[in-house]
Formats: sequence, structure tokens, C-alpha cells
Amino acid sequence: MHVNTQARMKIRAASSLCALIGIALVAVILARWGFSWWSLALAAIALGCPVSALYSWWLSQRMAASVDADVPHTSGMTMGWAAPIYESYCPLIGLGARFRRMTLRHAGLRMGEQVLDVGCGTGVLSRGASDAVGPDGAVQGIDAAPAMVAVARREAAKAGSRAQFKVAAIEALPFETEYFDVVLSSLMLHHLPPEAKRQGLREVRRVLKDGGRLIVVDVDRPALPWWLLMWPLLFMPPVAPNLRGEIPAYLEGAGFARIAAQGRWGGLLTVWVAHKEGWQRI
Ligand SMILES: C[S@@+](CC[C@H](N)C(=O)[O-])C[C@H]1O[C@@H](n2cnc3c(N)ncnc32)[C@H](O)[C@@H]1O
Repeated sequence: MHVNTQARMKIRAASSLCALIGIALVAVILARWGFSWWSLALAAIALGCPVSALYSWWLSQRMAASVDADVPHTSGMTMGWAAPIYESYCPLIGLGARFRRMTLRHAGLRMGEQVLDVGCGTGVLSRGASDAVGPDGAVQGIDAAPAMVAVARREAAKAGSRAQFKVAAIEALPFETEYFDVVLSSLMLHHLPPEAKRQGLREVRRVLKDGGRLIVVDVDRPALPWWLLMWPLLFMPPVAPNLRGEIPAYLEGAGFARIAAQGRWGGLLTVWVAHKEGWQRI
């Protein structure tokens, strides 16, 4: 596997910075409020977050090395460092089993369908989709982070799931034109800067069959209280278009038709369903 040393150094620097901030926070909490149950609990959280991120990063390096694939070129924010802890943390921020069931309900998968899950992460949605399409269908998950693919394969094997996983970037999907009935994109578009969003969605449309559908669950213009937390992200190129409510425009720009917002989750996420109608190169 080709190891991206620059990315590794960045992660190492970011993790060290997190650990230092954690230690500083613990020192401030204990110096300010002394030793009590609640100050110790707060200190444990302040230290626990960066330490678990560091541990996860260390583990992910070993997992990534076990996947025999080149790291694809992408300008997207990949999350290999979080692969070992990702699925345990999701329910803590409201993205547990109920959220996955809601996504699959909107996807309306039918037995025998061919499904692609782009930016599949640890494959939690791919496994659910695989159950929904049954043995006559098939689900493929792709992620640009080899460590995510390593965890996805391990979890699928543990669960006895037929879902298959590949290391690949959405900007260059390694599949034939008009191959899939359905593409799922869950919490991934906000990882892509504007040009990668455009290219990725054109690729998704290319691999969809005529009449196929794309289900996107992602960050959208937030409900009011969220703005207090989210506004700094308006300066982050991958997330800003989402927060400005521009995802439907990106879908339209990639040639999708009948784009509909079908649901909301937690005041921050929207579920869109879009269709490929008529094959013409965009
Ligand atoms: C927040 S996670 C979402 C994972 C999963 N879909 C879910 O719903 O839990 C976003 C994923 O997108 C992946 N990713 C980022 N840029 C990508 C790209 N250009 N191509 C494919 N995957 C990418 C990251 O590595 C990460 O696993």
C-alpha cells in the first residue's frame, strides 16, 4: 500500500495538539475547581477524547496497512484515523440504529437491487442495505480511507453480511457505466470541497442505471439553535455549501431529475432522493 506520509504527519501533529489541549484542559479544570466528582468527570472527558482519538489513529495505521490497495487521490476529507472508534461514537451523537433505519426507509430498497454506498465508512449502512436487497441483490461500499474499508470488511464478516467493500474515491468510481439501481451517500458530501462534490455526483450519475435513484443524507441549512455552533464551519470549503442549503443545486448541476427533500434529522440533516432520467453526458 502506498502510504501518504504528508497526511500521516498532519494527523500526527493534529493528534499531538489535541493531546496537549486535553492535558491543558485537565490542568485548568483541576486548578480551578479542585478534586470533586464532577471536576474529575469533566477532566476525564477532556483527556478521554484526545486520548481515544490518538489510540484510534494508531490502530488505524495498522489496519490500513492490512488492506492491499493504493490510497486514491482525493481532495475530500477522509477519516481513516477514526475508523476503529467511528461506529461506537455515532450513536452518542444521535446517529444510531434509528437513524440508519430512517435512511433505509427513504431508500426503499427492493429485493434483487444492485446498490452502491459511497463513502461507506465502516459499512453500517451497507450491511443494512445488503439485508434489504437479499441474496439476489448486491451491495458494494467504497471509501477513500483504507482503514475504513478494513473495519467495514471485518464488521461485515462478523455480521455474516454479503456486502463487499473497496478502497476508491467517489471522484473516480471503479465501476461500469449504468451498473447500479441505487446509490446511497450518507454523511459524505460534506467531506468534499465544491469541485469534488461536482465530479463525485457526475460519477454517481454515470454508474446509475437509467431510472436509478440516489439517496443523500447530509448536512443542510441548520435549524436556528444549531447556527450558534455551526457558523465557524461556513469558512470550511467542504461544509459551507451544505450549510448554505446548496445540495439540491449540486444535484441538479450533475444532471439529476425529480430531486426531493424527503425528511429531516436532528435539525441539521436532510434526506434527498434524486433520479437519473435519460442518459446524456453532462
Ligand atoms: C462521516 S463518514 C460517513 C460514513 C458512512 N457513510 C456513515 O453514514 O456513517 C464520511 C466518509 O467519507 C469518506 N470519504 C471522504 N472523502 C471521500 C472520497 N473522496 N471518496 C470516498 N470516500 C470519501 C471518509 O473516509 C469517511 O469514511
